Amino acid sequence: MEVHNVDLTISAVRPNQYPQTNYPEIALVGRSNVGKSSLTNVLINRRNFAHTSSQPGKTQTLNFYNVEDQLYFVDVPGYGYAKVSKKKRERFGQMIEEYLTQREQLRGTILLVDGRHAPTNDDVSMYQWLQYYNIPALVVATKIDKVKGNAWNRQESLVNKTLGLDKQTPLILFSAVKKHGQAAVWEWIEKQTGV
Ligand code: GTP
Ligand code: MG
Repeated sequence: MEVHNVDLTISAVRPNQYPQTNYPEIALVGRSNVGKSSLTNVLINRRNFAHTSSQPGKTQTLNFYNVEDQLYFVDVPGYGYAKVSKKKRERFGQMIEEYLTQREQLRGTILLVDGRHAPTNDDVSMYQWLQYYNIPALVVATKIDKVKGNAWNRQESLVNKTLGLDKQTPLILFSAVKKHGQAAVWEWIEKQTGV
């Protein structure tokens, strides 16, 4: 989809703040700093519409981006960031779980992992959790521009194996800097949402 119009409809922390539309929704989940907001920006063709930061813990609410009045991207707070207080982490966890398990409009979740390394235990738990709730997932390995071309295959297998991906879950190598993988991610989103 070629995106011209997008707005941040709401930064929600509770279900009664979610948009009251029936647009299909795609959520982006993953560790803090993995590149969720950066992926959002690439998908909507903006530089820093979703605020990004080299400091982890930037996104602290469920941010609903209305894309062309056709679908929403939901950018969520990252997990696994030790400097966020325990209380806040619990609140984030509850908020994300509530959204992912109860939102009827949710058509799929993009799970981002750092393409430079093996997925963490938190990443594995997140993937298993999505499987358990039968939420369709796409795995995106980010920051692949930082990996030499001859190591891409190795990283791809490492992510695949460590997460134990099933046949229904595609894996895309992605770079927000080079926009590598952009079209493939959009293709999956279009398939999931029917837009
Ligand atoms: P939280 O909101 O804290 O959960 O983080 P996030 O997952 O939204 O990460 P964000 O998009 O803010 O990116 C974190 C940092 O990684 C920023 O400095 C980005 O510029 C950088 N980054 C994100 N994606 C890429 C990528 O594909 N390649 C490179 N080289 N850097 C990236
Ligand atoms: Mg963010």
